[in-house]
Amino acid sequence: MQVIILPSAHDVALYAADRVVDVINTKPNPVLGLATGSTPIALYKELVARYHAKEMSFRRVVSFNLDEYIGIADTHQQSYRAFMERYLFEHIDIFDENTHVPIADSQDVNVLKRSAQDYEEWILQAGGIDLQILGIGLNGHIGFNEPTSSFASRTRIKTLSESTVVANKRFFEEGEYQPHLALTMGIGTILESKSVLLMATGKAKAEAVKAMIEGPLSAMCPASALQLHEAATIVLDEDAASLL
Ligand code: GLP
Repeated sequence: MQVIILPSAHDVALYAADRVVDVINTKPNPVLGLATGSTPIALYKELVARYHAKEMSFRRVVSFNLDEYIGIADTHQQSYRAFMERYLFEHIDIFDENTHVPIADSQDVNVLKRSAQDYEEWILQAGGIDLQILGIGLNGHIGFNEPTSSFASRTRIKTLSESTVVANKRFFEEGEYQPHLALTMGIGTILESKSVLLMATGKAKAEAVKAMIEGPLSAMCPASALQLHEAATIVLDEDAASLL
Protein backbone atom coordinates (compact mmCIF):
# COMPACT_ATOMS: atom_id res chain seq x y z
CA MET A 1 0.00 0.00 0.00
CA GLN A 2 1.49 3.30 -1.08
CA VAL A 3 0.34 6.33 0.91
CA ILE A 4 0.65 9.79 -0.60
CA ILE A 5 -0.14 12.88 1.46
CA LEU A 6 -0.72 16.13 -0.42
CA PRO A 7 -1.38 19.65 0.89
CA SER A 8 -5.00 20.05 -0.27
CA ALA A 9 -8.08 18.30 -1.65
CA HIS A 10 -7.40 20.03 -4.96
CA ASP A 11 -3.96 18.39 -5.15
CA VAL A 12 -5.58 15.02 -4.44
CA ALA A 13 -7.93 15.52 -7.43
CA LEU A 14 -5.01 16.54 -9.68
CA TYR A 15 -2.98 13.50 -8.65
CA ALA A 16 -5.95 11.20 -9.31
CA ALA A 17 -6.58 12.85 -12.69
CA ASP A 18 -2.93 12.25 -13.68
CA ARG A 19 -3.34 8.57 -12.88
CA VAL A 20 -6.56 8.26 -14.87
CA VAL A 21 -5.10 10.09 -17.88
CA ASP A 22 -2.07 7.84 -17.74
CA VAL A 23 -4.23 4.69 -17.85
CA ILE A 24 -6.32 6.06 -20.72
CA ASN A 25 -3.27 7.09 -22.74
CA THR A 26 -1.19 3.96 -22.17
CA LYS A 27 -3.71 1.10 -22.35
CA PRO A 28 -5.19 0.05 -25.69
CA ASN A 29 -8.53 -0.81 -24.06
CA PRO A 30 -8.63 1.08 -20.78
CA VAL A 31 -11.11 -0.14 -18.18
CA LEU A 32 -11.84 2.29 -15.36
CA GLY A 33 -13.59 1.52 -12.10
CA LEU A 34 -15.47 4.61 -10.96
CA ALA A 35 -16.86 5.79 -7.64
CA THR A 36 -19.54 8.21 -6.48
CA GLY A 37 -19.75 10.36 -3.35
CA SER A 38 -18.62 13.93 -2.90
CA THR A 39 -14.88 13.14 -2.87
CA PRO A 40 -14.42 12.18 -6.56
CA ILE A 41 -16.46 15.13 -7.88
CA ALA A 42 -13.29 17.26 -8.03
CA LEU A 43 -11.58 14.48 -9.98
CA TYR A 44 -14.42 14.31 -12.51
CA LYS A 45 -14.34 18.11 -12.95
CA GLU A 46 -10.63 17.90 -13.63
CA LEU A 47 -11.08 15.05 -16.11
CA VAL A 48 -13.75 17.03 -17.99
CA ALA A 49 -11.35 20.02 -18.14
CA ARG A 50 -8.53 17.82 -19.44
CA TYR A 51 -10.84 16.23 -21.99
CA HIS A 52 -11.73 19.71 -23.26
CA ALA A 53 -8.02 20.54 -23.35
CA LYS A 54 -7.67 17.45 -25.62
CA GLU A 55 -5.34 15.61 -23.23
CA MET A 56 -7.29 12.40 -23.87
CA SER A 57 -10.39 10.92 -25.41
CA PHE A 58 -12.76 8.46 -23.71
CA ARG A 59 -13.69 6.70 -26.99
CA ARG A 60 -11.82 3.54 -26.02
CA VAL A 61 -12.72 3.66 -22.34
CA VAL A 62 -15.01 1.16 -20.67
CA SER A 63 -16.19 2.02 -17.16
CA PHE A 64 -17.69 0.11 -14.26
CA ASN A 65 -19.13 1.89 -11.26
CA LEU A 66 -18.87 0.38 -7.83
CA ASP A 67 -22.46 0.47 -6.71
CA GLU A 68 -26.05 1.60 -7.13
CA TYR A 69 -29.00 2.09 -4.82
CA ILE A 70 -31.85 -0.42 -4.84
CA GLY A 71 -35.33 1.08 -4.57
CA ILE A 72 -34.99 4.21 -6.71
CA ALA A 73 -35.13 4.39 -10.50
CA ASP A 74 -31.87 4.98 -12.35
CA THR A 75 -33.45 8.21 -13.60
CA HIS A 76 -33.83 9.45 -9.99
CA GLN A 77 -31.60 12.47 -9.30
CA GLN A 78 -29.79 10.63 -6.51
CA SER A 79 -29.20 7.37 -8.36
CA TYR A 80 -25.53 6.73 -8.97
CA ARG A 81 -26.26 6.40 -12.70
CA ALA A 82 -27.66 9.95 -12.67
CA PHE A 83 -24.67 11.12 -10.60
CA MET A 84 -22.23 9.76 -13.17
CA GLU A 85 -24.15 11.29 -16.08
CA ARG A 86 -24.23 14.66 -14.30
CA TYR A 87 -20.61 14.87 -13.24
CA LEU A 88 -18.83 12.98 -16.00
CA PHE A 89 -20.49 11.01 -18.76
CA GLU A 90 -22.55 13.79 -20.34
CA HIS A 91 -19.47 16.02 -20.62
CA ILE A 92 -17.11 13.59 -22.37
CA ASP A 93 -17.03 11.41 -25.50
CA ILE A 94 -17.44 8.04 -23.76
CA PHE A 95 -19.88 5.69 -25.55
CA ASP A 96 -23.05 5.16 -23.50
CA GLU A 97 -22.90 1.43 -24.01
CA ASN A 98 -19.40 1.37 -22.49
CA THR A 99 -20.54 2.89 -19.18
CA HIS A 100 -21.73 0.39 -16.58
CA VAL A 101 -23.42 1.10 -13.29
CA PRO A 102 -24.97 -1.90 -11.49
CA ILE A 103 -28.58 -2.33 -12.63
CA ALA A 104 -30.54 -2.28 -9.42
CA ASP A 105 -33.88 -0.95 -10.60
CA SER A 106 -35.97 -3.92 -9.42
CA GLN A 107 -37.66 -5.14 -6.24
CA ASP A 108 -37.28 -8.79 -7.26
CA VAL A 109 -34.39 -10.39 -5.40
CA ASN A 110 -33.81 -12.96 -8.16
CA VAL A 111 -33.55 -10.24 -10.80
CA LEU A 112 -31.08 -8.39 -8.59
CA LYS A 113 -28.99 -11.52 -7.99
CA ARG A 114 -28.88 -12.17 -11.73
CA SER A 115 -27.88 -8.56 -12.32
CA ALA A 116 -25.03 -8.91 -9.80
CA GLN A 117 -23.76 -12.04 -11.55
CA ASP A 118 -24.00 -10.37 -14.95
CA TYR A 119 -21.97 -7.45 -13.62
CA GLU A 120 -19.13 -9.74 -12.54
CA GLU A 121 -19.29 -11.39 -15.97
CA TRP A 122 -19.11 -8.08 -17.82
CA ILE A 123 -16.05 -6.98 -15.85
CA LEU A 124 -14.30 -10.22 -16.79
CA GLN A 125 -15.32 -9.90 -20.43
CA ALA A 126 -13.90 -6.37 -20.49
CA GLY A 127 -10.55 -7.83 -19.35
CA GLY A 128 -10.76 -6.68 -15.71
CA ILE A 129 -10.46 -3.21 -14.23
CA ASP A 130 -7.16 -1.40 -14.87
CA LEU A 131 -7.65 1.32 -12.28
CA GLN A 132 -10.35 1.35 -9.63
CA ILE A 133 -11.11 4.75 -8.08
CA LEU A 134 -12.42 4.56 -4.51
CA GLY A 135 -13.60 6.86 -1.78
CA ILE A 136 -14.02 5.78 1.81
CA GLY A 137 -17.07 5.95 4.07
CA LEU A 138 -16.87 7.34 7.61
CA ASN A 139 -17.10 3.76 8.89
CA GLY A 140 -14.38 2.53 6.52
CA HIS A 141 -16.69 1.19 3.82
CA ILE A 142 -15.60 0.97 0.19
CA GLY A 143 -18.31 0.88 -2.47
CA PHE A 144 -21.19 -0.12 -0.23
CA ASN A 145 -19.22 -2.86 1.49
CA GLU A 146 -20.19 -2.04 5.03
CA PRO A 147 -18.33 -3.24 8.14
CA THR A 148 -18.49 -7.07 8.51
CA SER A 149 -18.39 -7.53 4.70
CA SER A 150 -16.26 -10.52 3.76
CA PHE A 151 -12.94 -9.76 2.07
CA ALA A 152 -13.95 -12.46 -0.45
CA SER A 153 -17.34 -10.89 -1.25
CA ARG A 154 -18.51 -10.44 -4.83
CA THR A 155 -21.09 -8.11 -6.38
CA ARG A 156 -24.25 -8.54 -4.31
CA ILE A 157 -27.12 -6.91 -2.45
CA LYS A 158 -26.00 -5.11 0.71
CA THR A 159 -27.98 -3.49 3.49
CA LEU A 160 -26.60 -0.04 4.29
CA SER A 161 -25.56 0.61 7.86
CA GLU A 162 -27.46 3.21 9.83
CA SER A 163 -24.43 5.52 9.86
CA THR A 164 -24.16 5.38 6.05
CA VAL A 165 -27.87 6.16 5.65
CA VAL A 166 -27.42 9.13 8.00
CA ALA A 167 -24.25 10.31 6.17
CA ASN A 168 -26.01 10.17 2.78
CA LYS A 169 -29.22 11.83 4.01
CA ARG A 170 -27.87 15.22 2.92
CA PHE A 171 -28.38 14.21 -0.73
CA PHE A 172 -32.12 13.51 -0.35
CA GLU A 173 -35.00 15.95 0.10
CA GLU A 174 -36.67 16.26 3.49
CA GLY A 175 -39.24 13.43 3.77
CA GLU A 176 -38.11 11.81 0.51
CA TYR A 177 -37.72 8.01 0.36
CA GLN A 178 -34.08 7.10 0.96
CA PRO A 179 -32.80 3.66 -0.02
CA HIS A 180 -31.41 1.28 2.63
CA LEU A 181 -30.20 -1.32 0.15
CA ALA A 182 -27.64 -1.26 -2.65
CA LEU A 183 -26.06 -3.49 -5.26
CA THR A 184 -22.31 -3.20 -4.79
CA MET A 185 -19.15 -4.77 -6.14
CA GLY A 186 -17.70 -6.96 -3.42
CA ILE A 187 -14.37 -6.50 -1.69
CA GLY A 188 -13.11 -9.57 -3.59
CA THR A 189 -14.21 -7.91 -6.83
CA ILE A 190 -12.40 -4.68 -5.94
CA LEU A 191 -9.22 -6.54 -4.94
CA GLU A 192 -9.08 -8.09 -8.43
CA SER A 193 -8.62 -4.66 -10.03
CA LYS A 194 -5.11 -4.33 -11.46
CA SER A 195 -4.58 -1.12 -9.52
CA VAL A 196 -6.59 0.80 -6.97
CA LEU A 197 -6.57 4.49 -6.07
CA LEU A 198 -8.42 5.49 -2.93
CA MET A 199 -8.99 9.22 -2.41
CA ALA A 200 -9.82 10.68 1.00
CA THR A 201 -10.06 14.32 1.98
CA GLY A 202 -11.14 16.25 5.05
CA LYS A 203 -10.85 15.79 8.82
CA ALA A 204 -14.05 13.72 9.04
CA LYS A 205 -12.26 10.85 7.24
CA ALA A 206 -9.17 10.83 9.48
CA GLU A 207 -10.36 7.99 11.79
CA ALA A 208 -11.39 5.75 8.89
CA VAL A 209 -8.10 6.47 7.10
CA LYS A 210 -6.08 5.56 10.19
CA ALA A 211 -8.00 2.28 10.59
CA MET A 212 -7.49 1.47 6.90
CA ILE A 213 -3.73 2.11 6.91
CA GLU A 214 -2.53 1.43 10.45
CA GLY A 215 -5.24 -0.80 11.81
CA PRO A 216 -5.34 -4.59 11.60
CA LEU A 217 -6.87 -6.31 8.59
CA SER A 218 -10.44 -6.40 9.75
CA ALA A 219 -13.90 -6.86 8.32
CA MET A 220 -14.88 -4.05 10.69
CA CYS A 221 -12.87 -1.71 8.43
CA PRO A 222 -13.57 -2.95 4.89
CA ALA A 223 -10.96 -0.56 3.41
CA SER A 224 -8.23 -2.33 5.41
CA ALA A 225 -8.53 -5.09 2.76
CA LEU A 226 -6.52 -2.78 0.50
CA GLN A 227 -3.44 -3.63 2.60
CA LEU A 228 -3.57 -6.94 0.71
CA HIS A 229 -3.46 -5.31 -2.72
CA GLU A 230 -0.11 -5.12 -4.50
CA ALA A 231 -0.90 -1.92 -6.38
CA ALA A 232 -3.05 0.14 -4.04
CA THR A 233 -2.39 3.85 -3.69
CA ILE A 234 -4.04 5.89 -0.96
CA VAL A 235 -3.98 9.60 -1.74
CA LEU A 236 -4.87 11.94 1.12
CA ASP A 237 -5.00 15.60 1.92
CA GLU A 238 -3.36 16.70 5.16
CA ASP A 239 -6.67 16.70 7.04
CA ALA A 240 -7.53 13.13 6.12
CA ALA A 241 -3.97 12.13 7.05
CA SER A 242 -3.98 14.04 10.34
CA LEU A 243 -4.24 10.97 12.62
CA LEU A 244 -1.50 8.94 10.92
C1 GLP B 1 -21.00 6.40 -0.51
C2 GLP B 1 -20.41 5.58 -1.65
C3 GLP B 1 -18.93 5.32 -1.48
C4 GLP B 1 -18.21 6.59 -1.08
C5 GLP B 1 -18.75 7.07 0.25
C6 GLP B 1 -18.07 8.32 0.78
O1 GLP B 1 -21.56 5.68 0.52
N1 GLP B 1 -21.10 4.34 -1.84
O2 GLP B 1 -18.40 4.80 -2.70
O3 GLP B 1 -16.83 6.38 -0.99
O4 GLP B 1 -20.13 7.35 0.09
O5 GLP B 1 -18.61 9.44 0.16
P1 GLP B 1 -18.07 10.92 0.29
O6 GLP B 1 -16.98 11.03 -0.69
O7 GLP B 1 -19.26 11.76 -0.07
O8 GLP B 1 -17.64 11.10 1.69
